[in-house]
Amino acid sequence: MAEKTRTPIIIDTDPGVDDTVAILLAITSPELEILAYIISFGNTDVHAAYDNIYKLYQAIGRHIALHPEDAARFPNFSPIVPPLLVVGPEGPLEGGRHFAQYFHGRDGLSDINERHPELNIDFGSSSFSHNFQPVKESSVEVALRLLESRPDRSITYVVLGPMTNLAQLVRQHRQTVMDKIGRVIAMAGALDVPGNTTSVAEFNVFADPYAAKELLVPTDPTSGLPLDRVVLAPLDITTSHELPFPYYAQKVDPAFKSAAQPSNADGKSPLVHFTSSFFERTREIMLEWGKDALELHDIVAIWCAIENPPEINAVGGLPGMSTGWAVAERTFDIERTGEITRGMFVTDRREENTAYAPGANRAEVQAQLDLRHLGHGLLESTALPARVEVEDPGLDQRQRKGVACLVETPGPSVLLQLLTRRVWGI
Ligand SMILES: *[C@@H]1O[C@H](CO)[C@@H](O)[C@H](O)[C@H]1NC(C)=O
Repeated sequence: MAEKTRTPIIIDTDPGVDDTVAILLAITSPELEILAYIISFGNTDVHAAYDNIYKLYQAIGRHIALHPEDAARFPNFSPIVPPLLVVGPEGPLEGGRHFAQYFHGRDGLSDINERHPELNIDFGSSSFSHNFQPVKESSVEVALRLLESRPDRSITYVVLGPMTNLAQLVRQHRQTVMDKIGRVIAMAGALDVPGNTTSVAEFNVFADPYAAKELLVPTDPTSGLPLDRVVLAPLDITTSHELPFPYYAQKVDPAFKSAAQPSNADGKSPLVHFTSSFFERTREIMLEWGKDALELHDIVAIWCAIENPPEINAVGGLPGMSTGWAVAERTFDIERTGEITRGMFVTDRREENTAYAPGANRAEVQAQLDLRHLGHGLLESTALPARVEVEDPGLDQRQRKGVACLVETPGPSVLLQLLTRRVWGI
């Protein structure tokens, strides 16, 4: 059988609990060819995040050593074309550094280094380390070299963490990015839903709102990303995609409980022991928040990359998507220095036909309400605001294009099945 062309991808990530699962999905996906991991600060500090790639590869290596029959399930785990591994930014373009260690642990993997020393990196073992290639160049140089080494518009750049490295790449080599990049898929932002780090901000944008703004809300045609090749996966669409922990216990690890009863490696495949060891703490935190599931934010972005390769001959406009997927163009600005709104997406609802109610045009809704003599709530304005001249050329007069935001996927249950089949072989 002829091999289908695989989409070469660069994964820019801050692993991280859900990042690690997302990377597992990428490694087990034959549609992808992982060129590099660019490690960023974010969920934890950049060095702990970097170590987690070793821990992940070690777990896969141990798994395959014990179950060689499973090797084919990991098409991106091979010494033949090892992805590059490079340390990226240690903090945002500007402003203070923020981590999410309360959720991901100081080691980025729910502090398994304390509960599960058997999962610490065994540098003496060579069973896994040939399957990726640590490099000493700067992360911008690595991304540049990879873009230049491949045909125009063939590479998908996936961002699972803060957008700092991509912003630096665009600052330094924008023309190459314009010529060469195939697609950018980024897990970032919250539009019409609450944030997950503050009440208004999603973590990746909160961690570096400067980078996100520079890339997604360019002030002139010579800056920012080629927006016709960008797909954003905001919390609005990712949050409904979950791995329910009871489902994980039922299908993958019947002994799975919580950090109060830590995972025991005996009788488990090394990969299952690895994932259970960090899920057990995530489960406790999620239960405190009233949900017995892992939200699959970054996993949605990788899934999107699997099913939506770059369009080599795109002609501008919104990025084309495969069956079952849809994007909508949204316009917003990004708060960088807000006293309480750092990282917030400030959506401009005046021009949007998605504003006000799903699929509704605000003026039409107003007309319908008037027709039925229905008032709004007490605190709501009953009229469309008059357009006012603004002195700040920011939001209104700047020539601006919206960003394609993911609004539809084939559905949470499809992802759940794909994930459990590919990652755990079930
Ligand atoms: C918030 O969203 C980001 C998406 O990248 C995710 O990595 C992180 O785990 C989420 N945090 C919480 C507390 O859910």
